[in-house]
Amino acid sequence: MSRDSSLWWHTATAPSNIAFIKYWGKRSAETQWPANDSLSMTLSEACTTTLARCLPSNEIDRFQLGDLNLASDHPKARRALAHVARLRTITGFTPPLAIVSENSFPEGRGIASSASGFAALTIACLAAWTVSPDLDHLARHGYSLTRLADLARLGSGSACRSLFGGFARWESGDAHDHQHFRQLFRADHWALADIILCGPSEKKISSTDGHVAAWSSPSFAPRLRSLPDRLRACEAAIAARRMADLGNILESEALEMHGVMESSVPPVVYLSDTTRRLLETIREYRARGGFPAWFTLDAGETIHLICESRHAPQIVTAARAFTPERMILMDRVGDGPTLELRKGPAA
Ligand code: PMV
Repeated sequence: MSRDSSLWWHTATAPSNIAFIKYWGKRSAETQWPANDSLSMTLSEACTTTLARCLPSNEIDRFQLGDLNLASDHPKARRALAHVARLRTITGFTPPLAIVSENSFPEGRGIASSASGFAALTIACLAAWTVSPDLDHLARHGYSLTRLADLARLGSGSACRSLFGGFARWESGDAHDHQHFRQLFRADHWALADIILCGPSEKKISSTDGHVAAWSSPSFAPRLRSLPDRLRACEAAIAARRMADLGNILESEALEMHGVMESSVPPVVYLSDTTRRLLETIREYRARGGFPAWFTLDAGETIHLICESRHAPQIVTAARAFTPERMILMDRVGDGPTLELRKGPAA
């Protein structure tokens, strides 16, 4: 008779998100206090699933990414374990943890995994420490979605928005410890798709370094002054489901952020000539008609084409034709994170 050696794990699945109004630049790097408010759409398919369980007190934290048992000095393991240590200091929980994490999307193709990764890691750690089988239970222990968002942002700023389904806003507030996180609209408010034209590789310059450089750009202060108006317009376009209005905001916002990056000292350049040509092609296709999609960009060469879901098939067909070399992923607005107890590896 075979013995089932699998174990119960606190299993958090958190989606990535794509910012419509970008978080770029921090008022304080130490406290992860952003320079401006940001707004994003939570995705559905690009997710990180993280399993956590408590270990006996004489053991040390273990972190495994996918099938790779990363050495604790591997940069990804180091960053994850540093976040676990930070959570422990803030919350006072002491048990060491075994953690296994996996992304639903391909690694190294320029799709940011830090938002989904740190959101899932934060939920899974707190669930293991509080022995919470679901998000309601975790909230009753004092870890509501907003509290979890405030903790997740300490690992990676954009992770805080992944705690909420639909469309989320992160407000920088009037002090580093008075930031606000909230869901603006649920996912069923508007069926939007994100057609992801994956960049050829992971970004060469970390967003951590880019955020610091932002202040040296002469365009940064004017950007900060004008952003509240753009944020209001973005929120209004989503509220009224006005695609062309939203699309024009998305493109101006993405190009403005890259303008700040490229005018920083030293310049932070993420876009290759090939990617710039692709952005031109997207505009040409739209101008010709039959291509109602607008681009946005993060810190890298991956292009996100935002459109209404009913148009997604035609956008994918056209994108396959004009960029056959890029891997294309189809995503859409999603409901936010989940937490459950699941049987997992015996490791
Ligand atoms: O969360 P970070 O530190 O990786 O910064 C994210 C920055 C952008 O992805 C470029 C914009 C955003 O708001 O997500």
